[in-house]
Formats: sequence, C-alpha cells, structure tokens
Amino acid sequence: MTMTNQDPALPPTGAVPARCPVTGAVASADVPGPRRPEGPKGLPGVGITMDMGRAPLDFSLRLQRDHGGVVRVRLWPRPFIQITEPEAIERVLVGNPGNYRRGRLYEPFHQFMGKGLLTLDDDEWRAHRRVVQPAFTPQKVRESVEETVAAVTDLFDSWDVEADRQRSFDLVRPAMSLSARIMGKALIGRSLASRERTFTRAVAAGLESIFKNVSSVEEYVLPRWLPTAYQRRKRWARRFFDQVIASVKAERQATGEFGDDAAGLIMKSDLPESALPDNLRTMFLAGSETTGLSLAWALYELARHPSVRREVEREVDEVLAGRTPTFDDLAALPVVQSVVDETLRLYPSVWQFPRDAVEPDELAGHEIPATSTVMVSVYATHRNPAYWDAPNSFDPSRFRDPSAKDRPKFAYLPFGGGRRQCIGKPLAVPVLATAVAMVCQRYRLWLPYGTENVSPEGFITIFPPKFPDGGLTLGLTRRDGR
Ligand code: HEM
Repeated sequence: MTMTNQDPALPPTGAVPARCPVTGAVASADVPGPRRPEGPKGLPGVGITMDMGRAPLDFSLRLQRDHGGVVRVRLWPRPFIQITEPEAIERVLVGNPGNYRRGRLYEPFHQFMGKGLLTLDDDEWRAHRRVVQPAFTPQKVRESVEETVAAVTDLFDSWDVEADRQRSFDLVRPAMSLSARIMGKALIGRSLASRERTFTRAVAAGLESIFKNVSSVEEYVLPRWLPTAYQRRKRWARRFFDQVIASVKAERQATGEFGDDAAGLIMKSDLPESALPDNLRTMFLAGSETTGLSLAWALYELARHPSVRREVEREVDEVLAGRTPTFDDLAALPVVQSVVDETLRLYPSVWQFPRDAVEPDELAGHEIPATSTVMVSVYATHRNPAYWDAPNSFDPSRFRDPSAKDRPKFAYLPFGGGRRQCIGKPLAVPVLATAVAMVCQRYRLWLPYGTENVSPEGFITIFPPKFPDGGLTLGLTRRDGR
C-alpha cells in the first residue's frame, strides 16, 4: 500500500513518529500535525488564473470537489486558500475572528466605497456598526415591509398588462427597481425608483470597478486618466451617488430634521464627515443588487418548479385569505420562507468573501501561514454534497425537514456570520418573503419555452447572463381568472 501525505490519519510522508523506548510516548515534533493545504498543480498562476477568470463559480466548485474543504490556489497575482469546510469557516468568523482582517482583497473596495461598514477592520468598524445598526430594528423593518407591499402593488399595474397579453417579459429590471425603491426609502428616506435605471447602472458600474481593481489590466496597466469607456462609467457612477448623497445631506441640514434612517443616524453621530457618503455608497452597492437579484432568482425558480409554486400558492391563500401580507404574517408562511432560504442557497449574491490571516492558524486540520488570504466560498459551501442532498436542485423542503437542524451551522451562510454578519439581513429576508408571497398570491408563474436553464455567472455578485440588461424571463397568468 502506498502512503501519501493526503491522508489525514497519517503523518507527513517520510516522517516516522519517534517513540521513547521507556514510556512509549511519541516525540512531539513528529506528532502528526496540521497539513499544508493542497490544490491544483501546474505553473503558479497563468493557467489557473485563466480558468478562474472564465467561469469562477464552476472553478470554485471544482476546487472543492477535487481538493476538499481547504484548498490552496496558486493564483496570479495573489494566491489564496479557498475554504468551504463549515468547521474552518466557523473558526474564521466566530472562533478566532480577531486573527482575520479584511485584508488585501478588500482594498479594491475602498476606491469606490471609501471607508465604511464593509471595508473597515474591526477596531474602526465597531463605531460605525453601533451607529448604523438601529436603522435595522424590527420597527424599521416593519416599515420596509409596508413599503414592499406598496411597491409590489404598484408593479402589478404593468404586470397585469403582461398577464392579459400572455406575454413573457424580463424580470431583472422590475426586481431591481423594486429593490431601489425599498433600499432608497430604508437608507435615505427617498425612493430611488424614478431613477431606477440610472441607479441600477451606477450600482453595476461600482461593482465592476471593484472587480477590475482586483484583477484587470484596465486598473493595473492603463493610466486612470485615459478616457476609456470603463473609466468614464466609473466616474459617472461615483458622481451619481455623490450627488444623491449631497442632496440628502443638504435637505436635512436645511430643515434640521435628521430622522432615524441610516442617513439620519450617521449625520447625528460623531463619526467623521466621510462616514455619510462612504457608508451610503457601501449600502447602496451592498444592498440593492443583492436583494433585487435574489427576488428575480426566487421567482424564476418558482416558475421552473410548478409543484413548489403550487405549495406556495396554497400557503398564501390559506394564511392571507386574499389580504396583503404584514410583517407579522411572515412567521406563518414557512413555505415562502423556505423558498427564500433555498434561493439564497443556490444563488448567494455575495458568493465569496476574503480575509487575511494575521498570525498562523489551523483550520480544519490545515496549517494557515500568517498573511495568507483565506477565501470563504459561500457558493461551493452551499453546494457541497457532504451536507446537501442533490445540491444543485431547487428543493425548499430541505429547510423545513426536521433533519435540517443536524446540518453544521456554517454549511449555510448567505449573509456571512459572526460579528461581521450582513447588517441588512433583517431587512432583506422579510422584503424577499413579502414580495414572493404577493406575487404568488396574484399570479401563476410560468417560463416561456427555451428559458428553463439559465446558469448564474459570478463577478462580485451572482447574476444572470446579460445583466444589467436582463437575463431572466417570466410569464404570468392572473390566478383570479381576470
Ligand atoms: C439578499 C441580500 C443580501 C445578501 C445575500 C448579503 C450578503 C452579505 C454577506 C455575505 C456579507 C458578509 C461579507 C463579509 O463578511 O466579508 C454582507 C455584509 C454586509 N452587507 Fe449584505 N447582503 C444582502 C443584503 C444587504 C442589504 C439589504 C444591505 C444594506 C441595506 C447590506 C449591507 C451590508 C453591509 C454594510 C455589510 C458589511 C457588514 C459589516 O461588516 O458590518 N446587505 N452581506
């Protein structure tokens, strides 16, 4: 039998544990310790970088399938260690979070988002989180659910026309518009829906600039003053957000009424002046595309799975009996909730996020040298066959099954975890559940022929091909027969 150092039960190849001839104790230097993470072989960088660039989501799945839950990736210009093992993720986010800083891969976010909730390290971050957190209390979320009801009701005007004509249409724009309205209200007390198209494009341009800052020739090689289409788009998006934020600030200063939404809380605080624009740009970018696209994926999957769709219809008919939902109704809609959970499992908008280790550490039996970049792949964790049966299938019932509680906590983390868990989670989940319930209450969803197999693509977020110009098509039939 050949022994390799891949087997966790064995010491590294060639190391035979020395025993004390008297006590039989194993010499500590030779005790099988943590292993070095292994990964794809080949020239450092080039092939792997291209592979990852072409199809990052598939690449992430393959790393896990072929090399396990802690994998070393020799990527150019920066190698990283992908983790998908729940035990390893838990240690990074909860067990030893002080050892893991936002790190090098979060630096590109600074240029667009500035120094705010997402980008700051724990010491500076704490004060920002304390100030902004009250914008997400249950009372504020109740208001956002009411805003969602109003926004979805308005959407029905145009969707009724599509239903009358039995015409399919693209779902991405209306879903993003809905999200722009709800996020605008929650963060700055204004709907951004009238400027939805501009807003969506500005968010997409912001995320593009962050991505290019990580990896692109256009940021690394070409000078920034060159008026390429990309540089113009980036400046325009930055100007758009700064104008919106400046006008909110001026309005509140003029009236002296600051309010208790995110903008008001920051303005009333003793955080530095830059905290207002930096945190609002951060939350516009972090909150709107993620929530809008999650809604689009949820409705798409329901149209694709008539049996699940019928379960949702039965539940909303029974519980709501024709009323519009309130925040208090949501707890009585477990099927709807499981549709949201399952959508975020298959399409976790923030599909991976990084940390840099300060000191050496051990993650699930693997040594992590100081300064390593650790990448939590939420996408591959959510599709790990060790924890999920038929991992690529849309099956919300898995979240209602009693066995769900046996799954390790960090096998599912669409909002991250620990103290840096997404601040918008208490808002995003009820907004999604309310919108899904209302749409299924009014319409039967269907897919036009040939649109059943849309594969997600990964960038900073997960999105359908053609985004932001569309990519998920849907048809509707009124359920009341009108
Ligand atoms: C379906 C919707 C959403 C998903 C899947 C999502 C996902 C995530 C994830 C995975 C993280 C953790 C990143 C890390 O630890 O490095 C995060 C952080 C964050 N998200 Fe979300 N998010 C969503 C909606 C929102 C919304 C609605 C907002 C704001 C209105 C928001 C604002 C933020 C902020 C500010 C952080 C940084 C929090 C901190 O470190 O204190 N997100 N999000």
